[in-house]
Amino acid sequence: MAPVLVTGVTGFVGAHLAARLVELGREVRVLVRDPARLPDAGWVEHVEVVRGDATDAASLERALDGVAVAHYLLHAMSDGDDYAAADREMAQTFAAAAERAGADWRLVYGGRQRTSMAFTAELAGYGGEQVDLRTDDGVGPIDVARLVQQSEGAKVFACGPLGLLDALEAAFDTAGRSDDLHLERFSAAAKPLPGDGTFRVNLARTGGHVDVPPGQSVLEALRAAGVDAPCSCEQGFCGTCETRVLAGEPDHRDDLLTEAERARGDVMMPCVSRSKTPELTLDL
Ligand code: FES
Repeated sequence: MAPVLVTGVTGFVGAHLAARLVELGREVRVLVRDPARLPDAGWVEHVEVVRGDATDAASLERALDGVAVAHYLLHAMSDGDDYAAADREMAQTFAAAAERAGADWRLVYGGRQRTSMAFTAELAGYGGEQVDLRTDDGVGPIDVARLVQQSEGAKVFACGPLGLLDALEAAFDTAGRSDDLHLERFSAAAKPLPGDGTFRVNLARTGGHVDVPPGQSVLEALRAAGVDAPCSCEQGFCGTCETRVLAGEPDHRDDLLTEAERARGDVMMPCVSRSKTPELTLDL
């Protein structure tokens, strides 16, 4: 069986995808700049690690050699004004290398009208089988039911308006494929809800604790107590702050975890999620 290449495995979506593919018995290859930054997780010992950089053609050639499918889950981390340009260039370098290596991918790109869509020029060279351009004033909007059917056996990554993401979520749930769908939502941070109370977070590694009042996130309470915890979006959609839960029941308010992951309750996003139990113990 040809391997599946996953990039971005130091991020939330990439790590979860790699773990799931390993669980499904797929041969998985990962491309990382620094193998020391791979997550401390069981799936890591079952994957082939290629050390390299997605902006470097030689690394990409090694990583893409003989793969069946390549998942591109990267974005440029830059403080400069050229953030978007760097992102675009990296995506184009990867797409061109994947194309040369014969890897399988498909893009469904929707918008109101062609003239308002940013990447039509870059995508013009691909055939309709690979890039399905759907505009409201052309072939019509994205057909969610059809997308579910056509993506059988594949993973689907989507970002876009909330209505589309909700429709995709419902359709994949109905098809029993919620684990195949990964959404990137850009929505407002969760607001305190009526009934939110104070709870205690125990810190398993250091032995301390912090109390989290209503109106303050776990992450804010940790920071105020001088506890270093990774974060990025602080809105529950990027996964950077994902933390292991060792005891207690989280009240999940993120946009990332699947229903199965919520039910397991062994991880949470402390930037937005709270606690259903008076105390939570986190792996911090
Ligand atoms: S910081 Fe992005 S999900 Fe918590």
